[in-house]
Amino acid sequence: MTQQAIEQDPVNVGDLAGKHIVLGLSGGIACYKAAELCRALIKQGATVQVVMTEAAEQFITAVTLQALSGRPVYTSQWDSREANNMAHINLSREADAILIAPCSADFMAKLLHGRADDLLSLMCLARPIAAVPLLIAPAMNREMWAHPATQRNMAQLSGDGATILGVGSGFQACGETGDGRMLEPPELLEDIIAFFTPKVLAGQQVLVTAGPTYEAIDPVRGITNLSSGKMGFAVARAAREAGAEVTLVAGPVSLSTPRGVTRIDVKSAQNMLEAVMQQAPAATVFIATAAVADWRPASSAERKIKKDGSGQAPQLAFTENPDILATVAQSPRARSGELFCVGFAAESHDLADNAQAKRRRKGVPLLVGNIGPATFGRDDNALLLVDAQGSRELARASKLSLARQLVAEIASRIQRAG
Ligand code: C5P
Repeated sequence: MTQQAIEQDPVNVGDLAGKHIVLGLSGGIACYKAAELCRALIKQGATVQVVMTEAAEQFITAVTLQALSGRPVYTSQWDSREANNMAHINLSREADAILIAPCSADFMAKLLHGRADDLLSLMCLARPIAAVPLLIAPAMNREMWAHPATQRNMAQLSGDGATILGVGSGFQACGETGDGRMLEPPELLEDIIAFFTPKVLAGQQVLVTAGPTYEAIDPVRGITNLSSGKMGFAVARAAREAGAEVTLVAGPVSLSTPRGVTRIDVKSAQNMLEAVMQQAPAATVFIATAAVADWRPASSAERKIKKDGSGQAPQLAFTENPDILATVAQSPRARSGELFCVGFAAESHDLADNAQAKRRRKGVPLLVGNIGPATFGRDDNALLLVDAQGSRELARASKLSLARQLVAEIASRIQRAG
């Protein structure tokens, strides 16, 4: 499917479908990232109205943002295109959120004092504060960011109800390195989608395992399982979007960490078990999506095992790995219902029967079955939720969409139990 077809596909409505975002740009070099952000918001189904300060126009033109948003950009409170000449009222009343990206140090100071001498600050002050949230993506030099005045302003803006989306760290346009860069558009997009997600897991501590494990034979070889980690990472992201504190214990995968998720990287099943047992006492939900290797070499050679010229392959002995899910599910907290455990099962046939048998064997209230070869490495999947009462299918969809459905299911089960 072409990119254009995806954007126009009515089934692929996007995570921000129906949302109207007023995207405000204040002056800063990060304005160039706002163009990509605008496009990303629209690709997720939002409508975007851009408002720019005079300083922002020094960095990027209104023409660019009009072309990307498909709407004329507003830059002045004296804009006579509005019949009542009250752009600040009209624009803010239509918004589901106002997002200032980039938000300069100066603009933060302005917002803090309730100043209203240009359209953007005027509109922020005039917005119905309870109905239209204000999201701020700061962008500035590291010294400006670290300055007590900026930190004070940020704390006060937060106290006044604004959501500060944080800053990135690294090389800055000024040549210095440190905190203060505007977050990248994909990071901002993830935060904005999370912002609009109902917080059905608020107060929950969710522990997720993901990816394969790697069991070393010698320093250069090992055995592992086919697993991209995509499902587990999607589950971690969905749980965080739903308001949970999330810890993700990940085997070796090449995926970026979902926003706001604490990640612990591990290699072997034993490393994974150790990390999980360390985190489990604080968890209220445990979701085991990892494809843990069933066996590991009984011993791992310290040096590379060389061919000895005899034509004989080395004899390898294997030891069974601990079952992480079953171990956690047997803990007193899991047995008393304080810790809700969810397992996954990748099967090749007879999914419902095999998944039900596995659920009983592992001692978990909910097990999620899928057909392994049909999901490995893909972005989509189909799931079967299996519990003591029977099973329910979640139709083929993106792994993120399925992860969100699973999180909603877990939340309703916890609520019912609590
Ligand atoms: O036994 P099987 O590997 O099919 O079980 C799959 C489920 O058990 C998954 O949830 C997986 O993360 C978990 N598991 C585990 N530790 C193992 C093996 C599987 O946590 N050693």
